[in-house]
Amino acid sequence: MKRNILCIGAGYVGGPTMAILAQQCPDRRITVVDNNAARIAAWNSDTMPIYEPGLEEVVKSCRGRNLFFSTDVARGIAESDIIFVSVNTPTKTFGQGAGCAADLQYWEKTARLILQHATTDKIVVEKSTLPVRTAHAMSRILHSGASAVHFEVLSNPEFLAEGTAIADLTRPDRVLIGGADTPQGRAAVAELVALYGAWVPPERILTTNVWSSELSKLAANAMLAQRVSSINALSALCEATEANISEVARAIGMDSRIGPKFLKAGVGFGGSCFHKDILNLVYLCDSYGLTEVANYWRQVVILNDYQQSRFVGAMIRAMFNTIADKRIALLGFAFKADTGDTRESPAIRITRLLVEEHARVVVSDPRALDNARKDLADLGDRVLFEPDPYAAAVDADALVFLTDWREYQALDFTRLLPRMRRPAFLFDGRRFLDHDALFRLGFNVHPIGSPPLSHLDN
Ligand code: UDX
Ligand code: ADP
Repeated sequence: MKRNILCIGAGYVGGPTMAILAQQCPDRRITVVDNNAARIAAWNSDTMPIYEPGLEEVVKSCRGRNLFFSTDVARGIAESDIIFVSVNTPTKTFGQGAGCAADLQYWEKTARLILQHATTDKIVVEKSTLPVRTAHAMSRILHSGASAVHFEVLSNPEFLAEGTAIADLTRPDRVLIGGADTPQGRAAVAELVALYGAWVPPERILTTNVWSSELSKLAANAMLAQRVSSINALSALCEATEANISEVARAIGMDSRIGPKFLKAGVGFGGSCFHKDILNLVYLCDSYGLTEVANYWRQVVILNDYQQSRFVGAMIRAMFNTIADKRIALLGFAFKADTGDTRESPAIRITRLLVEEHARVVVSDPRALDNARKDLADLGDRVLFEPDPYAAAVDADALVFLTDWREYQALDFTRLLPRMRRPAFLFDGRRFLDHDALFRLGFNVHPIGSPPLSHLDN
C-alpha cells in the first residue's frame, strides 16, 4: 500500500514542494498542515499565499485529488506514515546566540507534536534548514515518550530558489537524502529514494550520512552567498578604478572552473536563507572553537551589509552630499525578481538608511508592496507606498532600482524623466538597465560596479 505523506509547515518551501510531489506522484495522498489558518485558507482559495510563477496551476491541478491543505495538525500526524517538517527556523533574536544561532522553538514544538499524536511508526524528514546534528536531537525528542512507536529521522534539505521553484523542483540538480547507517535507517532512505525516483533520474539522487546532508545545505548556501559577496567586493574596486564589473564577471566566468552563474553584482543578497544559514554556520564553527573558520564566513555577511551602506553613500555623494527632503522613488522591494518575498531584502536596510538621511522615500514594487508595508510599519508616514512607478517618479530627484523586475526594463523612461526634478538621477542597484541609453535620454546614471555616466561637472 502506498503510504500517506504529511508536510508540517505550508510556507515557501512546504507548499511548492508538496505541490510538485502531488503532481509527480498522483497515487500518493499528500496533506499539508499549518497552524496559521489564514495561510491554509489561502492555499485552499483562488489566491495563493505566496507568489511563485507556475505554482497556482500545479496546486489547482492536484488540490482535492491527492493534495490537501488543513489546519488539523494532530489528525495529519495520526494518519500519515512519512512526515516532512518544513517549519520556519529563523535566526534567534534573544538569549544565547541571538543574531546568529537558529531559533529552533518552532521545530522543537513540531517534534513534540509528532510524538504526542503518533500511534504508528513514522519516517520524519527534515526539510527545514537546520544546524548540523539537529536530526540527532529530533530523534532523541521523538523517542523520549513511553510509547513503542519508532521514528526514523532523515535529512532531505530543499535547494529550490524562489521565483524558479517549480523548475527547480521538477528538474532538480540533485536530491540529497541523509539517513542513519542502520537497517531501519537504510530502509527509510530507500523509501524516500523511491518516492523521488518517480520523476528524478537515479544519478541525481544522492544518499549520505545525516550530518553530511545537514551540513551540505548550509555549505551550498554559504558558497553561493560567498560568490555574491566576492563579486560585490570587486564591484567596489571597479567603481574606484573605472573597470566594469560586468566585463570582469564575464571574463572570469568563462573559466570553466569558475563558471558564469551567480556572478551578478548588485546591492547584495537577501532572502530567507543566505543570511540565516551563514550566521548559523558561523555559530556552529564558533561553538566548535573554529574561530578562524567562523570569521571567514562572517566576512561574507559583513561585505553584504557594506555593499548596501556603500550604495547609499554613493547616492548621497552624487546628490551633492545631501538627500534630506529629496524624494526618492525606490523601485523594487522584493529580494529578487519573480517573488513577493521581502525577507532580508537589501531594500529594507537601504530604505532605512535613506530615511535616516531624511529623504522622502516612495516604495514601489509589482508584487511585494504588502510585505514592504509590514517591514517598514514602524517608519509610519516617513515612507510612502505607490504601486505605479510613473506616479512614484513624480517630483522625484532619483529613481533607485533595487529589484531586477522585467517590468522595469520595459518602463518608458521618456515618460518618467519629465515627471522628475532636475538634475535627474538614476541608481541601478542591479545592473540590469541600458545605462548608455538612459544617459543619452538625460539621466545621470549611477550603476553599481562601474563608473557613473554624469551630465554634471565633477
Ligand atoms: C537560495 C538558494 O539559491 C537555494 O538553493 C536555497 O534553497 C535557498 O536560498 P533564494 O534565496 O530563493 O535561494 O534565491 P537566490 O536566487 O539564490 O538569490 C539569493 C539572493 O542573491 C538574491 O537577493 C539575489 O538577488 C542575490 N544574487 C544572486 C545576486 O545578487 N547576484 C547573483 O549573481 C545571484
Ligand atoms: P519557509 O520559507 O522555510 O518555508 P515559512 O515561514 O514560509 O518558511 O513557512 C513555515 C511555516 O511553518 C509557517 O507557515 C508557520 O505557520 C508554520 N509552522 C511553524 N510552526 C508550526 C507548527 N508547530 N505546526 C504547524 N505549522 C507550523
